[in-house]
Amino acid sequence: MCGIVGYVGSRQAAGLAIEALRRMEYRGYDSAGIAVNTGDSLTMVKRAGKLANLEERIAQVGAPEGKAGIGHTRWATHGRPTDENAHPHLSFDESVAVVHNGIIENFAPLRQQMEREGVEFASDTDTEVAAHLLARYYNEGETAGDFRESALRVLNRLEGAFTILFMHANHPDQIIAARRSTPLIIGVGEGEMFLGSDVAAFIEFTKDAVELGQDNVVVITADDYEVLNFDGTPSQGRPFTIDWDLEAAEKGGFDSFMMKEIYEQPAAVRDTLAGHWSEGRVVLDENNISEEELKSFNQVFVVACGSAYHSGLLAKYAIEHWVRIPVQIEVASEFRYRDPVLDERTLVLAISQSGETADTLEAVRHAKTQGAKVLAVCNTNGSQIPRESDAVLYTHAGPEIGVASTKAFLAQVAANYIVGLALAQAKGTKYPDEIKEIWDTLDLIPGKIEQVLAARDTVTEISDELGAVATMLFLGRGVGFPVALEGALKLKELAYIHAEGFPAGELKHGPIALIEDDLPVVVVVPSPRGLKVLHSKIVSNIQEIRARGAKTIVIAEEGDEAVEPYANWLIRIPQTSTIMQPLLATIPLQFLAADIAVNVGNEDIDKPRNLAKSVTVE
Ligand code: M6R
Repeated sequence: MCGIVGYVGSRQAAGLAIEALRRMEYRGYDSAGIAVNTGDSLTMVKRAGKLANLEERIAQVGAPEGKAGIGHTRWATHGRPTDENAHPHLSFDESVAVVHNGIIENFAPLRQQMEREGVEFASDTDTEVAAHLLARYYNEGETAGDFRESALRVLNRLEGAFTILFMHANHPDQIIAARRSTPLIIGVGEGEMFLGSDVAAFIEFTKDAVELGQDNVVVITADDYEVLNFDGTPSQGRPFTIDWDLEAAEKGGFDSFMMKEIYEQPAAVRDTLAGHWSEGRVVLDENNISEEELKSFNQVFVVACGSAYHSGLLAKYAIEHWVRIPVQIEVASEFRYRDPVLDERTLVLAISQSGETADTLEAVRHAKTQGAKVLAVCNTNGSQIPRESDAVLYTHAGPEIGVASTKAFLAQVAANYIVGLALAQAKGTKYPDEIKEIWDTLDLIPGKIEQVLAARDTVTEISDELGAVATMLFLGRGVGFPVALEGALKLKELAYIHAEGFPAGELKHGPIALIEDDLPVVVVVPSPRGLKVLHSKIVSNIQEIRARGAKTIVIAEEGDEAVEPYANWLIRIPQTSTIMQPLLATIPLQFLAADIAVNVGNEDIDKPRNLAKSVTVE
């Protein structure tokens, strides 16, 4: 998730773009850059790191002067956060500047083709290819000299999800932009026109906005905008009036970043999966572990902390089931102190949103000294853990500002499953058609997450009836157990109340002593269409706790009628395979924790007390 701004009007575009980027820095802060059309050429300034670095550079070289410009604040996906990889990107002849949010999935073949034709690339990004392509179309052939037709040609060659802005040196009065699956909003001013990945980009200047639809292109000039489809036929956006202040705009209209991030989960999972299925095979990116090595691993160790650890528990279930090799999981802070048995046939999966967690980093270092190969699953491009690992699979959740992890957790689960499928493929423990079937089920999950989000009111009603609870238990079996742990962690972090997650079968070995009248207990019920014994056992567990006075909040899939008599409250989730259920069942627990936090008087759920987003001490 990156922040994008475009401007054509009567003001100096450079200063305006910088201000817009400041308001959108929450969307990404790996690097920032601007390009301004100075009348007959493009001037670009960009820098890795925070916006302050860019401002420092502009102070040294002077702000480019011009009334049309584009800007970008980056959350790195392809390529490390370096000056070269910062946006904008210029074409080989410096006639085109491009900024982009999203992922161009087919950039690799496009890039290879252009490199064969002699184009030199200046960055490792997926974006740069679009700049070169546009210059090519503009310079030669039937679209020569035609900015709009050239841009349409480029757009029709791109696959993936993108918001993209094009500026051409010969057209100082125009910016052409497009969106597919990621947002783009037009801000309509008096004699000036804005583009933004969200309204925070221009809220200071105008409240009149137009939301673009899927696969829309827009051409803006200072006085007008024109919306097209990718085939060049006319289209329309949806005009609306912005009634948010800046703070609300940054949070997408939600009360907190965390709530916004919960609603970003369909995109977080979709973007994480994007590009990992190609020509009937699972592909890993930035992978320096060969297919032969993948084949040779005979055990996996997962190291992670907090929510990332819970996602790792799910990796264990998936990998053992699909790959039939033992998977051990260790809280990262414990890993190196107990001398785990590792060798060159061990794959260590290090999972971290921030990529900076000291406990996980030390575990990675220890694993490497023992000769193991380390594959990082990480949300932060260029951070320390991926840098020190042999390979990395990036989650594409975008920046997570809420300290309590939500979208990054779901993205980690999706990424872990990609790793599991890649291992199964390499080791041949699943047939290609079985892998395809699992992939297809995974691919449907973002849509199902949307259905869970749409049922948010059910959770609010439950939390309103629960009021200010003092303690809560969470139970699950199989893959429902890590969900229970994650639900309990969310509640502890946000509401500061005692909460425990247990495997439901463990209850009778002690925790059942905690059950008393009216104690709320969340039970995550596996699908009755899966392992029958698992379902019937958990139904028995629900009866046991109900008999002792507990009030049950049951999460069960649609159509599971057997649980109805035992649920004080029932939260339905869409049907999916057992292994995928955590990607849905976790969401109501995120809502529940946020609601209870507010009920007990903790309004600022983005910054729970005593916690930090990135824990860089051991
Ligand atoms: O950045 P990391 O994924 O390595 O962070 C790990 C944990 O610190 C993190 O998941 C923490 O538990 C969150 N606050 C959970 O909501």
